Amino acid sequence: MKEYDFVVIGSGIAGLSFALKAAKHGSVAVITKRKAADTNTAWAQGGIACVTSEEDSFELHVRDTLQAGAGLCDEAVVRTIVTEGPERIRELAELGVHFDEREVSGHRESATGRIRRGELDLGKEGGHSKRRVLHVRDATGKEIEDALLRELGRQSNVQLLENHMAVDLITAAKLGFASEDRCLGIYVLDEKTGDVETIRSDRIVLATGGCGKVYLYTTNPDIATGDGVAMAWRAGVKIANMEFIQFHPTCLFHPQAKSFLISEAVRGEGGILRNDRGEDFMKRYDPRGSLAPRDIVARAIDAEIKRSGAKCVFLDITHRSPEFVRERFPHIYQTCLRFGIDMSKQAIPVVPAAHYQCGGINTDVNGVTSLPGVYAIGEVGCTGMHGANRLASNSLLEGLVVAHRAVAAALQTRPARKQKIALPEWQSGNVQDVDEMVVIYHNWDEIRRLMWDYVGIVRTDKRLQRASARLRNLQREIREFYWNFKVSVDLLELRNLAAVAALIVDSALCRKESRGLHYTLDYPNPDDGQFRRDTLLSRN
Ligand code: SIN
Repeated sequence: MKEYDFVVIGSGIAGLSFALKAAKHGSVAVITKRKAADTNTAWAQGGIACVTSEEDSFELHVRDTLQAGAGLCDEAVVRTIVTEGPERIRELAELGVHFDEREVSGHRESATGRIRRGELDLGKEGGHSKRRVLHVRDATGKEIEDALLRELGRQSNVQLLENHMAVDLITAAKLGFASEDRCLGIYVLDEKTGDVETIRSDRIVLATGGCGKVYLYTTNPDIATGDGVAMAWRAGVKIANMEFIQFHPTCLFHPQAKSFLISEAVRGEGGILRNDRGEDFMKRYDPRGSLAPRDIVARAIDAEIKRSGAKCVFLDITHRSPEFVRERFPHIYQTCLRFGIDMSKQAIPVVPAAHYQCGGINTDVNGVTSLPGVYAIGEVGCTGMHGANRLASNSLLEGLVVAHRAVAAALQTRPARKQKIALPEWQSGNVQDVDEMVVIYHNWDEIRRLMWDYVGIVRTDKRLQRASARLRNLQREIREFYWNFKVSVDLLELRNLAAVAALIVDSALCRKESRGLHYTLDYPNPDDGQFRRDTLLSRN
């Protein structure tokens, strides 16, 4: 049986930041279900929101975050993350992340006209009152991921286990020690051998990212199947605010393009949303126009599409110079070009798609969960930073700050070494290989479509109840599969998707009001008296 001081599940910004710092204090395993760079982080285009300019202030960043969060942010958490951001950004720069700077002259256009040599080129996104988004052109996440992985490769204390998927947490309660529940280890599937290994550790860090794949259309990579939330839920950990799923307004609409995001930074640099008649329709919905917060823009697009019967709307940045578009957005420009769209000459067809899970495993600002020994950091955790709607580009910042604090918390609260509880090996029982993959794929598709149709941008109680009933049936079927067949990544992901989908629906049914990202026709207004509070669910 393997044993580590720290086990990190997930290899995005939060998991890798934690692993690098924890490695100074003990042995670390980083478990990741595909290749290490297959993460949501690596797909992040926009950047990291952080106060770095003299024209900005912590107070303004806090205010913008609270405003986007629609009354559900934890102000103390927001303040901590915002004020500790610059120090964490400095550390990233030391690891070799070179955020874009503005040039004094040359053909690059400046957004403000105030250009000084060596000044960071700050982007603007919806809901931000100032330019404050640090970026590396339009591939910020990839630069960060690469830098963190480079550094990880230099650590002798860290073992990176790729193609390994966490199955379930091993807890004292599950082993019959109900009086003082805590985490003792984790079962992990080695995809190459098909064996499930038992790993002992009393500090398990869930950094598994979000659950975009629970929806038919998403900007997320295939790995985003809600594994951390599902595992935590099964272990009895408290889950918060899962009804708040953020839909990004602008995902490329093209039959061959899968999940390709058109960064909000395009609107930050002047991009205008137009409907099929060419109208700048956002002005009718919000005075901030195309740069209104995401919940408002996504709902407006949904309404325009439903009203006109068109399949998409269009994002138009053709009024900026082609040189600017190509240099500021090289990744988006080239990708669109591959699909026959020259964004410097024509508007990009876009639709909203599931993008970010604002709720998750309930934690404090140190990533501490309700189960001793389990930490949750990054998108999988719900610290109170995002409330009912995340401000754009706040998530990489949260991942960095909370990972740093979680290391300190894990070192402080290590349970005293008592006599070790014996951990049972994984019991495969009398199982066979899944013979009918079609059942897995069918159930997977059914979940994603029903979530899109019934639990999307605009909800009603009736649709939610319908989704709930379907999901219970699917979960029953998946349970049978789980116990009768050998576990595989596909089966584990399906089981996790179904669990997370049910949590989203149950949470949405609890909230009889509209707030932030949760909008229901049955209760179209916020109800501060009853619902200005988190939705907390726990299996216990
Ligand atoms: C984007 O580039 O639009 C995504 C940024 C974010 O979701 O924070």
